Amino acid sequence: MAPYIGTAVSRVDGVAKVTGAAKYAAEVNVPGLVYGSIVGATIAKGRITRIDAGAALDVHGVLTVLTHENRPRMANDDQTYKDDVAPEGSPFRPLYDDKIRFNGQPIALVVAETSEIARFAALLVRVEYDEAAHVTDVCRQRDAATPVKPPKDPMEAMFTPPKSRGDADRALAAATVRHEGEYYVPIEHHNPMELYAATAIVEGDGKLTVYDKTQGVQNVQRYVCGVFGLKPEDVRVMSPFVGGAFGSGLRPQFEVVLAVLAARALQRSVRVVLTRPQMYALGYRPAMIQRIALGANSGGALDAITHDAVTVTSQYEDFYRQETGWSGLLYTSTNAKYAHRLAHLDLPTSCDMRAPSAATAVYALESAMDELAVALKLDPVELRLRCYSDRDQHEDRPFSSKALRECYKQGAEAFGWSRLNPEPRSMRDGSDLVGWGMATGVWYAEQVPIAVRIGLSSNGHAEVACATSDIGTGTYTIMAQVAADMLGLPLDNISIKIADSSLPQSPVEGGSWIAASVSNGIAATAEAIRNELLRLVKQMPDSPLANVASAEVALADGKFVSKRDASRAVSITDAMRHGGVDRIEQEVTTNPSQDGSRAHNTHSAIFAEVKIDEQLGVIRVTRVVSAIAAGRILNTKTATSQILGGVVWGIGMALHEETLIDHKYGRIINANIAEYHVPVNADVHDIKVIFVDEPDEMINPLGVKGLGEIGIVGVPAAIANAIYHATGKRVRDLPITLDKLMR
Ligand code: MOS
Repeated sequence: MAPYIGTAVSRVDGVAKVTGAAKYAAEVNVPGLVYGSIVGATIAKGRITRIDAGAALDVHGVLTVLTHENRPRMANDDQTYKDDVAPEGSPFRPLYDDKIRFNGQPIALVVAETSEIARFAALLVRVEYDEAAHVTDVCRQRDAATPVKPPKDPMEAMFTPPKSRGDADRALAAATVRHEGEYYVPIEHHNPMELYAATAIVEGDGKLTVYDKTQGVQNVQRYVCGVFGLKPEDVRVMSPFVGGAFGSGLRPQFEVVLAVLAARALQRSVRVVLTRPQMYALGYRPAMIQRIALGANSGGALDAITHDAVTVTSQYEDFYRQETGWSGLLYTSTNAKYAHRLAHLDLPTSCDMRAPSAATAVYALESAMDELAVALKLDPVELRLRCYSDRDQHEDRPFSSKALRECYKQGAEAFGWSRLNPEPRSMRDGSDLVGWGMATGVWYAEQVPIAVRIGLSSNGHAEVACATSDIGTGTYTIMAQVAADMLGLPLDNISIKIADSSLPQSPVEGGSWIAASVSNGIAATAEAIRNELLRLVKQMPDSPLANVASAEVALADGKFVSKRDASRAVSITDAMRHGGVDRIEQEVTTNPSQDGSRAHNTHSAIFAEVKIDEQLGVIRVTRVVSAIAAGRILNTKTATSQILGGVVWGIGMALHEETLIDHKYGRIINANIAEYHVPVNADVHDIKVIFVDEPDEMINPLGVKGLGEIGIVGVPAAIANAIYHATGKRVRDLPITLDKLMR
């Protein structure tokens, strides 16, 4: 039996998805379901002085209008509202009190017999405010930004601001060649296809089943139990299918609070679906102002790096990630200085969005490196090779694996980089200017504790269960592949049960950590099943494998076979039947000991070609090659799709995406996907994904790193660098729209 791991297995949930059999949170139907529609605040800061729901309540079919004045009881302490991934601060509580913290904040829920009635009646709710002065412009708050406070509980690298080293200012002053620049990335929104929704089903006996769009069912379950004072056994949260979330579903969002609130108020099952504009109140990628200075000797060896960042959060929580230290993983420099401050705005708390911090910070770093290469008159790939670091500069430790050199090599070859004429404006295709640019990407290879249960039936069918989610990444499929290989069964004999809070423990699906964590979890659990099976095999009367050692038999095609003598074999169904066992079940929790002596990261090299109409400034990204080093690739098809999606998103970051706020009202003015631009098919051309070989025997038994986020990192810089090469004009704020290019 050929292994499934490492092959291009199609999604095991693909048919269910394309036929509509896969039910999302807003599609679960139960008898008597009623519908909630949210009323959002129209000011950015202040207090509600009066809510008049009279006209809404007069509409036939309206059941109730919930506000902070009449809602059921909710917890009243911050700690209870802190979910598993909450930042420091005082979490937002929907419909809790009269205080307005951001424009679009949910302040009432109209519940009616149909969603149309609810939505109509929501328009009739009259609200009066006592308005306070607000600030939503990061440029205005820049000077008032405060240094990030290192977390009380120093956790992963993801949250820890890097320590400065050496004397960067002095080294910078002494450098032969310097580049210093300021780079800007605006607020961006996740815009998953699926709208946020929760269906709260009243089961009787005080029990609730909640279908929610989330990246973490157990996180939501704990949160709902806390906020509403419910017992864990009375609340079950599920998210069997998620239509993209990209970080916006890591924390419990307000749709689930509102659905449960209404279900408790009415003792009826309630569905709440956000509108697209309401999705813009959930959280966003923080805007980022960055100053980077690089100092090098004439040979291109870096001697100084300073990276200074200002990012955006709300007035009530300090969301941030490690933003400034990416250079410390990529490039050797004796001296480095990092500073990160937070600007507090009257907006919702910012949140994780696909490769949080790396997508934005590596854009700036890799643009700055390109500018340094220009100043040094050095090929940008060559500059990166001269600064290449085999050690994590922050902790002065080697990597468990780092095949980035191979990414540069294979990416450059596939792209045809050797044919580059480095002179800006030197390459043309008819009336188009042609530009080539490249950049590096880097992300974490984290792992999390996780529990997996496998039940193997005597008919040779296995069920694999874990509370993790599949947010569209292909988790169902890689889980089935790993289980099939480890249990020696055909893929069709594996069923995957996930995204249900009653299943074995899993943290949120995020940070690119689930593929590595759950696949090794499955391997460990399958090993326990295998041991149990082998015990039964040996106990069989006249067993041909009575005396074999575990290492001397292979489990494949539903049989144990002696590695020395293939004629000695026992099928697992026979072994179980003889043993009088219908089902073997094992649950194993794996707690990957993060080996602190090594850094664990994924890397990439991205090469991009743009063609720019010289008269109109229209930019097309005509070719991208992304070469990825991410350990062992479990599924070449879903992995390629994951990276393709990241590259497309990188095109969006570079050229299209920007959340625009009317600062007078503190309101987002393009809260829809007509005016918030994302790449469409016409913007996407030739994209080639390469996975370089990167064996990693240290990181975990399967050598898996995960690649949910690496795909976007570096892409905006590669495109920005290509635009410079095409035009000779350096645009340092995203998105690079034609007005910026032409002025
Ligand atoms: Mo990812 S931004 O952790 O979904």
